[in-house]
Amino acid sequence: MKTWQLCAVLTIMALAVLGCARLDRLVARLAGQAEAAAAGDPARGEAIFRRGVAGAPPCAGCHLVEQGGAGFSLGPNLAGIAARAAERVAGMTAAQYLEESILQPGNHVVAGYHVSMFADYAAYLSRQDVADLIAYLLTL
Ligand code: HEC
Repeated sequence: MKTWQLCAVLTIMALAVLGCARLDRLVARLAGQAEAAAAGDPARGEAIFRRGVAGAPPCAGCHLVEQGGAGFSLGPNLAGIAARAAERVAGMTAAQYLEESILQPGNHVVAGYHVSMFADYAAYLSRQDVADLIAYLLTL
């Protein structure tokens, strides 16, 4: 092999190593973002619950969250839902049950209630909105 050929090969290898290091960092950053999106912020979740988001009706319009809270509400009182959600459907974690309750409210209907929950949240809420709502519900 001639010297210039060796140089060319070494240069290409060096560039490949540098490129890989960059790619690693990019992949790590993207993974970090995916994790950030999945980790819910309960304070933001509570704000969405009380005021709605992006034109979607607030959950608080139909759900009370205080134990023994007085007044009529169309949906069940969600005080203590964190513990109940874990028991509702065999094989589902509390978070899975809550996500499905929000995005496909007809799938598991709470005994004594009708399927009258707003059914279109999937079209209004971002993944982050849903994660934040679940984080909030898990504090109840
Ligand atoms: C228009 C009224 C209405 C709105 C708005 C509404 N819900 Fe509901 N929700 C209901 C009703 C009625 C039920 C009971 C029937 C059923 O299970 O689908 C219910 C059930 C639930 C359950 C299951 C409770 C349990 O004990 O297992 C959860 C969790 C829930 N809603 C969360 C939410 C969240 C979070 C929002 C806002 C993003 C919301 N709901 C908005 C009416 C509503």
